[in-house]
Amino acid sequence: MSKRSATDPRVPNHVAIIMDGNGRWAESRGLARLRGHRQGMEAARRVTRAAGELGIGYLTLYAFSLENWNRPKAEVKELMSLLDNYLEREIDGLMENDVRVRVIGRLERLSDDLRERVESGVARTRENQGLNVIFALSYGGRAEIVDAARGLLRDAELGKFDPEQLDEKTFAAYLYDSEIPDPDLLIRTGSELRVSNFLLWQIAYAEIHTTDVMWPDFDAADLEAALVDYASRERRFGLTREQVQSGSGKHS
Ligand code: IPE
Ligand code: IPE
Ligand code: MG
Repeated sequence: MSKRSATDPRVPNHVAIIMDGNGRWAESRGLARLRGHRQGMEAARRVTRAAGELGIGYLTLYAFSLENWNRPKAEVKELMSLLDNYLEREIDGLMENDVRVRVIGRLERLSDDLRERVESGVARTRENQGLNVIFALSYGGRAEIVDAARGLLRDAELGKFDPEQLDEKTFAAYLYDSEIPDPDLLIRTGSELRVSNFLLWQIAYAEIHTTDVMWPDFDAADLEAALVDYASRERRFGLTREQVQSGSGKHS
């Protein structure tokens, strides 16, 4: 697939990925789960590069869910240290490639060191104009909605807006990063057919692509295959096919 312009509707502007299957990838090879997570980091690096080359605007990577905090302590510790290493090693390369790093999630649960590393990566890349890479870290979709509601209630109490006037646009402005457009394409690797508390608000109209490929094996060709699948979809947003094809409908 050749590079297409950011405005080509066949290329999703925002791709969100549930990077699943690290543990099974390792276990099927008789290796410790950690080895799968390490290879998973390599896959994240590969896919980030490919996404930039394909003209994708935003790439959200589900790196660690709120539920993942309940995994065995040793695995959580390994994952945190891998994330820390990844950010330390990758940040110069991301700067060179004009990548802007963003993060969504309950960062207050991270260690001070990791939180500082994440925040400094976000700050250093803030002015970059290329691909936006969003790490969903200590992230839960329901928690994000609850956190947004908390902010809204606070502002309503302060009289900043009238609750009667609340609409979807106002609500969405209270989500973790309201500058990020909704995902057009949601990819889940590792065979499972579920959403696992990822971007619950934002995926309302995302196209979904699942694959049996385990995340450590996922590469540029797999991403391109997902984009080909996406390009074959007709996004109707509740309209009829006729309305979509004649361009007469307007979704709100
Ligand atoms: C995804 O791989 C990485 C994280 C959830 C952190 P898993 O660790 O969930 O791998 P499986 O699903 O057990 O194979
Ligand atoms: C989803 O994978 C979370 C991440 C990829 C970070 P999980 O492996 O945690 O999801 P479940 O438990 O299979 O639903
Ligand atoms: Mg899993």
